[in-house]
Amino acid sequence: MDTQFLEIDDNNFEEATALAAKLLKNGKVIGMPTETVYGLAASAYNEQAVREIFKVKGRPQDNPIIVHISDMIMLREVVADIPPEAVALAKAFWPGPLTMIFKKSEAINDTVTCKMDTVAVRMPSHPVAKRIIEKCALPIAAPSANLSSKPSPTTAKHVLDDLHGKIPLIIDAGTCEFGVESTVISLVESVPTIFRPGIITLEQIREVVPNATLAKAVLTELGKDEKAVSPGMKYKHYSPSADVTIVKGSLKKFAEYAEKNASGNTYAMCFDGENEMISIPSVSYGHIDRPDEQAKKLFTVLRMLDKAGATTVFARCPKKDGVSLAVLNRLIRAAGFKVVEL
Ligand code: TXA
Ligand code: MG
Repeated sequence: MDTQFLEIDDNNFEEATALAAKLLKNGKVIGMPTETVYGLAASAYNEQAVREIFKVKGRPQDNPIIVHISDMIMLREVVADIPPEAVALAKAFWPGPLTMIFKKSEAINDTVTCKMDTVAVRMPSHPVAKRIIEKCALPIAAPSANLSSKPSPTTAKHVLDDLHGKIPLIIDAGTCEFGVESTVISLVESVPTIFRPGIITLEQIREVVPNATLAKAVLTELGKDEKAVSPGMKYKHYSPSADVTIVKGSLKKFAEYAEKNASGNTYAMCFDGENEMISIPSVSYGHIDRPDEQAKKLFTVLRMLDKAGATTVFARCPKKDGVSLAVLNRLIRAAGFKVVEL
């Protein structure tokens, strides 16, 4: 299959979004920008098209997909019930990088939810995503547009690298604003529970829903017999080919550890301005006090290290609060939960 790589700008905005909408309505799967990461989109109402998403990504059959909507009327169509917390969270954070989990309605098929009775819904703020959904007038199922287990795509080129020849269209709208996937919160647990941290932080959510809590699996590896509240939690994620380890401690200790333990093609992932202190090749993933910058760069740096043929990566540890929690959550999975404390 030929993959059309289409740069979108003000001049061709209506034309390009109309082409995307036409393909989606015809049951095709396409690469589409959002404010978080690029999505692999299909009509949520077309089971064959949703099955194609699983095939294209190599996604495990029991990992459900987020449904993207453009207005609250569509929300009512896809969920059975809208709890008051959802109304408040939607008012505060939609459109934007927040996904909420609801009881699903009859309109949503088992292929999207992998037979769960819940559905994850998000209203993206990216103008291109928004316009495409409006033009389809259909809810759009879209996971991140990477091959399963690989780092998520934050540019259209990343999508092309992973999915060239497998989908008919990739819309290129430049680098994603946020760079990590949406915050996922479940409203069907006994208390609202964050399954995946993101740019919308726990602290921000608690201003709206004070009893919101964090699922244990956000930073902790699930035990063999533990059930994942969100299937995505149990899979290997965001991982480059290299063996990644998070190394916690001062920069001085980190540098000593990296030098001592380097073997083969080893790289350090550090913060801005730290490179001179580190004797092995190193690449920065942002300023130490700018988690928003780290979020935006993280997946690009992981992909870059793959291209450089890195076999071992030692990463400086992000903080644990605010947006840093999202960065730590992705990095700890990329590292397969390997953390060394110095
Ligand atoms: O920012 C985002 O959310 C991006 C863009 C494209 O919108 N999408 C994205 O989708 O990150 P994906 O498939 O890579 O991650 C969705 C996560 C998975 O971990 C999945 O297990 C979880 O959401 N999920 C989806 N439906 C669920 C459900 N009904 N119950 C629990 N977890 C669910
Ligand atoms: Mg993903």
